[in-house]
Amino acid sequence: MSLTLALSKGRIFDDTLPLLKAAGIEVLDDPEKSRALILRTNLPDVRVVLVRASDVPTYVQHGGADVGVAGLDVLLEHEAGPYGGQIGGGALLRPLDLRIARCRLSVATRTDFDYQAAVRQGARIRVATKYTQLARQHFADKGVHVDLIKLYGSMELAPLTGLADAIVDLVSSGATLKANDLVEVEHILPISSHLVLNPVAAKLKRERIRPLLQALQSAVSSSPA
Ligand code: PRP
Repeated sequence: MSLTLALSKGRIFDDTLPLLKAAGIEVLDDPEKSRALILRTNLPDVRVVLVRASDVPTYVQHGGADVGVAGLDVLLEHEAGPYGGQIGGGALLRPLDLRIARCRLSVATRTDFDYQAAVRQGARIRVATKYTQLARQHFADKGVHVDLIKLYGSMELAPLTGLADAIVDLVSSGATLKANDLVEVEHILPISSHLVLNPVAAKLKRERIRPLLQALQSAVSSSPA
């Protein structure tokens, strides 16, 4: 029974490899050395497909992959978006927090922008982000008026160029904010990467998926917190 696992290149890929290894799966191809998007593993019936981080939920939801690893930011944004529901497939299952690629979703501004005062005064704040759904929810919950500007990357530039007053983005070490003279003014959500399952595969391939899930679970529990 074959299994397709969707991963994205970079930190998620690098941090998932040791967990897969502990679960008996070794990825044989190095994505840094080849442009191939389907990677072989030591198990003939298990392959890894490389997709953009924000496409992992779509691949898994629609059966392009049985299993995937994606950040909670991407998963929640997908669930809240127009394609996150039941269209063409059941909702994603999210059985395990892998506790990797940890960071936080935050609001950041220029150092000379008084965010708390703007919020207190009920000002309309222009917010640039790729997480428009999560940002909309967050500011609506706080009763803050915002104009959202959708970007696809380099969010830090927006306050520096006058495109926006604030950004909603991931912060890990804080180095990117610091390098661009921005400050974190609000934490929205702690983020880590989760294992996701296609609901049909979870049923039809349960004999194959259950041991993988158990092995990953014990690898996660025994890795440093
Ligand atoms: C994320 C995020 C920030 C940076 C934060 O970008 O968008 O730019 O990491 O990390 P730091 O606090 O350790 O500096 P990423 O590198 O994931 O690329 P992306 O912009 O394509 O998401």
